[in-house]
Amino acid sequence: MDLLSRKMLEDEPSLGVSFPYVTRPDGSWDLMPASVSAGYSGDAWSHGNWFCGFWIGLHLVSHLHGGDEAHLAIATERMRLVAPRSHDPNTHDIGFIFLSSALPLFHLTADPLHCETGLEAARQLRARLVRTDLGGYVSSWGPHDDQRGRRSSAIDTMANLPLLYWAGEQTRDDSFTVAAELHAQSTERTFIREDLSTYHAVEYDLPAGTRNRGYTFQGLGDESFWSRGQGWAILGYAETARATGNRRYLDLAHTLADRFLEALAGRSAAPWDFDDPAGDDATLDTAASAIVANALLQIADLEPDAGIAGKRRDQAIALLEDLCREHLSRDPSERGLLRHGCYSKPHNIGPDAAVLFGDYYFAEALLMVLKPGALRPAAKKLA
Ligand code: GLY
Repeated sequence: MDLLSRKMLEDEPSLGVSFPYVTRPDGSWDLMPASVSAGYSGDAWSHGNWFCGFWIGLHLVSHLHGGDEAHLAIATERMRLVAPRSHDPNTHDIGFIFLSSALPLFHLTADPLHCETGLEAARQLRARLVRTDLGGYVSSWGPHDDQRGRRSSAIDTMANLPLLYWAGEQTRDDSFTVAAELHAQSTERTFIREDLSTYHAVEYDLPAGTRNRGYTFQGLGDESFWSRGQGWAILGYAETARATGNRRYLDLAHTLADRFLEALAGRSAAPWDFDDPAGDDATLDTAASAIVANALLQIADLEPDAGIAGKRRDQAIALLEDLCREHLSRDPSERGLLRHGCYSKPHNIGPDAAVLFGDYYFAEALLMVLKPGALRPAAKKLA
């Protein structure tokens, strides 16, 4: 955590109005302004800047860890660059952007400006709900009137749902929560394979709401086991259990976590895709392990059985210890906190790099262990 704080303060003067997202082969950060939205260029989809909120969240983690007010001041200043994205109608990633920035800033400062920014982002995410004969889902990509995106859903959306759950609780307007829970139910029906791994993406038949096809964008193949996607699913079902109090979602988070840990088989970090034929020599994705560690801590908080909760917490801490021991980026010429993340191997974007979302879920998990409830209220046990 000290290393994180030091590196972030060292990085700031060279960032200007841009934000880090992945490290380049020479170890320096690749940067992008917060204003870059997602969109199609011809048939190619570009995700835009969905990382900028994590940089703010990392400053807040550092502030809460060491008490340095400089981090809070920078986070508040940088929020001014990110806040305009709260009107962005193009992407489900609006959840990632604001659940890691406006929400913890509001939790820490009680400034209503951050609350309103988070709520505006939540309204944009809720507006992505597509009704089907079987319920509904939050579409992942593209403007609402673009059929390519409207029919498509990605497993990552599960990890964007906490923005909707927060908005539902904040406003007492259940339409946010209902939209998110419908999405979780549709995802359970269409993304989870018989072997309990998950598809990266699903194209729905409309209006039926059945799966037309499962496919991948960032994994090895349409039927392969993309490790980070499983992490997003585990996190999303833990969050859904937390928001609804429904034990069934916690059981699903447990089941998907067991499947991940079985495939991990004691390695120090997940391979980017569990089906990579290179086996133990496969490119790693430390972000996948960090996300699962984070989710396991939440599962432990929610789980009423003390024995099972303790086991989940031990598993989370074992993953975090492996990341700290084997994969911390201690060399000053390498920026970021965790080495060997893999943003997108098929697109050759940060295929073996520090990735900002990995650093965020890792640091947030460390703070959950060291100072529970500091960044957001700790989850309560389910009944
Ligand atoms: N878009 C989320 C991810 O790359 O995992």
